[in-house]
Amino acid sequence: MRRHLARALAVGAAAALIPLSSPAHATAGSVVVGGFPVDISQSPWTVALSSRDRFGGTRAGQFCGGVAVDRTTVLTAAHCVSAAVLGAPPGQPGDLKVITGRTDLLSAQGQEIPVTATWVNPGYNTQTNAGDFAVLTLASPLPASSVIRMAAAGDAAYAPGTAATVYGWGDATGDADYAHSLRAARLQVLPDAECERAYPGDENGKYAAASMLCAGVPQGGRDACQGDSGGPLVAQGRLIGLVSWGSGCGEPGNPGVYARVSEVVRTLAGGR
Ligand code: ARG
Repeated sequence: MRRHLARALAVGAAAALIPLSSPAHATAGSVVVGGFPVDISQSPWTVALSSRDRFGGTRAGQFCGGVAVDRTTVLTAAHCVSAAVLGAPPGQPGDLKVITGRTDLLSAQGQEIPVTATWVNPGYNTQTNAGDFAVLTLASPLPASSVIRMAAAGDAAYAPGTAATVYGWGDATGDADYAHSLRAARLQVLPDAECERAYPGDENGKYAAASMLCAGVPQGGRDACQGDSGGPLVAQGRLIGLVSWGSGCGEPGNPGVYARVSEVVRTLAGGR
């Protein structure tokens, strides 16, 4: 049983502070396992969430991913900004920053932008991980070219079999081998029936099609992993998912599960 539900990247001193949601081993999966290096210019909307206070300075404090959907709006996973991860209720000042325009976390490239507001989806279920998204407001605007469009319900990008790419700085081998340079993996959107078969509600978790989608490759070996949470899954140039959870990383038959972005669109349109 290797469930990594609602578990953010746990590195360094902070590792001991983050309660695991299951008695699973502390072994991390891999961030973007089976992936390839990319330059941030190829996905300028991909951002890193940083808290040096909580995660130390070696990798610029990176602990989750995120994605810019507006010049001052970044989406991430709700579980990334939980009190358990940040050590304070969401919205408490802290040193939460969004790192933009940086390929390599060991460099000073790009910008670090403070977060002025954190909004967690009130429908987020910490038990099932349904509705795993949050909205961060940036202190200063990003260039318009750093924004990606969200795919609304009915968008063809959600069709099973569609090619999709996930981006992140997470574990690249499944061995807590946290990348310092951005990576991506090519996946495909899987049919809900397959996701439901993989996660029927056993100890590995329960797939709920209304707020989740899953993506992977039949043979396994390519997936998001620990530390990639909150980051983008992109298909046909539009944002369709946010890295959320999975059982292990890249295991055949255990695809990665993502927050379904059409549900984010719907929720935000309803006013927050
Ligand atoms: N919960 C993990 C995180 O916070 C993401 C896990 C994704 N796992 C997967 N097999 N796709 O970084």
